[in-house]
Amino acid sequence: MKINFDEIIDRRGSNSSKWNVQENELPLSMADMDFKASPEIIEALSKRIRHGIFGYSDVSDEWKESIIHWWQTRHQFEIQKEWLMFCTGVIPAISSIVRKITTPAEKIVVLTPIYNIFFNSILNNGRVVLECPLVEKDGRYEIDFIDLESKLSDPQTTMMILCNPHNPIGKIWNREELEKIGELCEKHHVVVVSDEIHCDLTDPGKSYLPYASISKNCLNNSIVCVAPSKTFNLAGLQSAAIIVANEALRNKVNRAINTDEVAEPNAFAMSATIAAYHSQYWLDELRNYIFENKKLVREYIALHIPELKVLDSEATYLLWIDCREITNDSTELVNEIRKKTGLILSSGEIYRGDGFHYLRMNTAYPRKVMIDALNRLHHAIEMIKIGG
Ligand SMILES: Cc1ncc(COP(=O)(O)O)c(C=O)c1O
Repeated sequence: MKINFDEIIDRRGSNSSKWNVQENELPLSMADMDFKASPEIIEALSKRIRHGIFGYSDVSDEWKESIIHWWQTRHQFEIQKEWLMFCTGVIPAISSIVRKITTPAEKIVVLTPIYNIFFNSILNNGRVVLECPLVEKDGRYEIDFIDLESKLSDPQTTMMILCNPHNPIGKIWNREELEKIGELCEKHHVVVVSDEIHCDLTDPGKSYLPYASISKNCLNNSIVCVAPSKTFNLAGLQSAAIIVANEALRNKVNRAINTDEVAEPNAFAMSATIAAYHSQYWLDELRNYIFENKKLVREYIALHIPELKVLDSEATYLLWIDCREITNDSTELVNEIRKKTGLILSSGEIYRGDGFHYLRMNTAYPRKVMIDALNRLHHAIEMIKIGG
């Protein structure tokens, strides 16, 4: 089936967090997509609505089987049914896991720049963020493993939160990198939480490696969070899964999410997730469309706004744009762009590390909207250059 990702759907007035902005504004910030869900998902939800009763729901075997089948066929990773737990979101899962597996004042390592809400999960629970800044060289980020080991070996460090693939830089970690992280974390008794929410949104022809598939050690020392929410644009349905092979660790996580009351699905989560994992063709068309959007942004910026540099990205619909030729303060720059043209981008600063040199752009929009956004960005930068 050919999906029309060019269709522009007005999201104003739908209570969208992203679109709760002024009339002239165009938000390319928050990570959800301006595309309708797949026909399978809409049909499954319509059927659920027509049923008319929305009482309490259980986690179904069919839900577990749909996840097992997806990882087996798309990511060549065998998940056992008993490893799986439902959670109302990846962030609720991570916050709950942080509270259960670590104690206050302990340190949690993250590779920065990284998804900013991880900092909330750590800080709001009285734990300490221990940044291991990624090192950027010629537009590519690498892990400084010497720095990483020194941080993991701190006796107060008990957890590392990995983003695989990595938001905001769009990097897919390779086998060697994941293996090394696994070895170092085992050596220093640090539990790995691998957030794999962006794993399906790789560029066409590319795929990610599930952290737990790398080695026995990675499997036994990890808590993996996945979800259909980024892949299929279902964030508002609050559906995620936690995969833990290690029984002792799993029992703790299970207790944690139940104590925090984030282990029960709403009336739509099961149907939507099962239908999502029957929408392979939709996802493949989406990946092609997003790939073309990312190419368009890269080409447009190279031609019209050479002061900005778009970094290579192999995953996610997010682009990481170097703005250091214009400013060292990406927050001030996004504020200026918004003021001048209504275009809303995310400031890289919120992701820490060297993020103050970058802007983050969401590219999951119909192509005409992307062109509008790029024209606004061009106009804003021209005005900023002439001091207007
Ligand atoms: C890396 C990452 N993890 C988690 C989330 C949010 O997950 P959830 O809505 O399931 O809590 C996002 C959303 O952008 C994300 O980028």
